[in-house]
Amino acid sequence: MWNAFRNSKAHIRKVFMAPQKKLHIGMSLAPTWLSGEAWRREDSNVEGLFSSDFYVDIAKRSEAVHLDFVFRPDALFLPLEMIENGSGFASLDPTLLLASLARETTHIGLLSTISTIFFPPYLVARQLQTLHWLSNGRAGWNVVTALNGHDNFGLENMPSSQERYDRAEEFTAVVRQLWESFPSDALKLDRGSGRFADPEKVSAINHVGDYNRVKGPLNLPAFGKSPIPLVQAGASARGRSFAASIADAIFSSSPDMESAIELRRDLRRLAETHNRSADSVNLMPGLSLYLAESRKEADDLFRQTHARTEKARKLNTIKNLIGLDLAEWPESRRVSTPDLPPPLAQPYSGTHAELLRRAIERDQPTVAELLWRPEVMGSAHWQIIGTVDDAFEEIRNWAEAGAMDGFILLPGGSVTSMHLALEKLVPRLKDAGLFRERYASPYFADHLRA
Ligand SMILES: Cc1cc2nc3c(=O)[nH]c(=O)nc-3n(C[C@H](O)[C@H](O)[C@H](O)COP(=O)(O)O)c2cc1C
Repeated sequence: MWNAFRNSKAHIRKVFMAPQKKLHIGMSLAPTWLSGEAWRREDSNVEGLFSSDFYVDIAKRSEAVHLDFVFRPDALFLPLEMIENGSGFASLDPTLLLASLARETTHIGLLSTISTIFFPPYLVARQLQTLHWLSNGRAGWNVVTALNGHDNFGLENMPSSQERYDRAEEFTAVVRQLWESFPSDALKLDRGSGRFADPEKVSAINHVGDYNRVKGPLNLPAFGKSPIPLVQAGASARGRSFAASIADAIFSSSPDMESAIELRRDLRRLAETHNRSADSVNLMPGLSLYLAESRKEADDLFRQTHARTEKARKLNTIKNLIGLDLAEWPESRRVSTPDLPPPLAQPYSGTHAELLRRAIERDQPTVAELLWRPEVMGSAHWQIIGTVDDAFEEIRNWAEAGAMDGFILLPGGSVTSMHLALEKLVPRLKDAGLFRERYASPYFADHLRA
């Protein structure tokens, strides 16, 4: 046994290679492992979806393996067609949910998603600083410009991409100024002199901008021992630049290694143009995982989960991606390079279109096989369907290729798939020296820096 280990690649890597930079890993509380048909499984615990116990369980499991953070994405609107077959965008408020995890955990980061369009910045600054105090330095903010929901907040239209980022820049700057407006060292708590705080150290911000007017100061002192890390998601040129200027980590949809390498390189370059070090920005693509004991079982899990995705929708996706209309084709017919029309000028995802074209050129799949490709099934994320070993190898390849600094776990298909990700895959990464053995600090910001 020992000899087998000594001769293994893992051992050779551990002994002879320079210490590997550790990955950062977050866990989605979305919960992706109940999407598609998976919530209908006996053991899904879907009844707990709107309780805090459900999320305490995931947070404790994630903390037990020393993940950087748990993370709740968010949307502020409810497409009714999505709730017929699954939870869709129905969800608890992320910041309140994370507050309920604060006292049940001790080290793991609690990353909330809050839009920069719909709320007053004073409220957001206060909520996040409150979560930071309640969790003893573990709050984080996923800064999103939001996907939709304007009509729930009195706006006529969703602002243009340009305006959304203009607003995001101003909003984020105001929130940060508010956090600084009542610094922790203003708090004196001096029983002898009776001095609670030094008002001279607390100041108004008097912000008057294009979208916000805020006097300040915030009515809550800064936690002070560690900052609140910022995470950003948004992939346009403006989104990248904004991310590189403020974010400690970036959540991306990067379905293939080449697109991740390009994005990471660009973000590192952009960070330097904003006078930040390239290493201060961690690219963390979403990682959708369908894990099982064998590849066959993982494949079945993926298919069962997406069993009700309609054929018409899949055909439509293929048409929108690569301009190929297969509606009249028999499912047994093979699709090959000569069948491919010239690339579309503006497919809704250039990356997915390219992946699909390459799969056709390489594999000449039948129509039936094509209909089950992950690009067609709709996950815009990096996707691994297989065993824990398969996932481990692919993650190591991406890490060695400089395609990411970590990832956000989006386990799919079943509760078992989620447990395999946390309880088998993460320990494999630790054994290979790719992930931390233990927390070095109780503060979220420190996890992302280490
Ligand atoms: C991986 C990823 C995750 C996102 N998650 C959220 C989210 O949870 N809530 C939300 O309102 N918007 C979310 N967004 C939307 C972005 O904040 C942004 O509004 C959108 O991507 C448009 O900006 P862009 O053109 O720069 O990509 C996400 C975007 C990406 C790429």
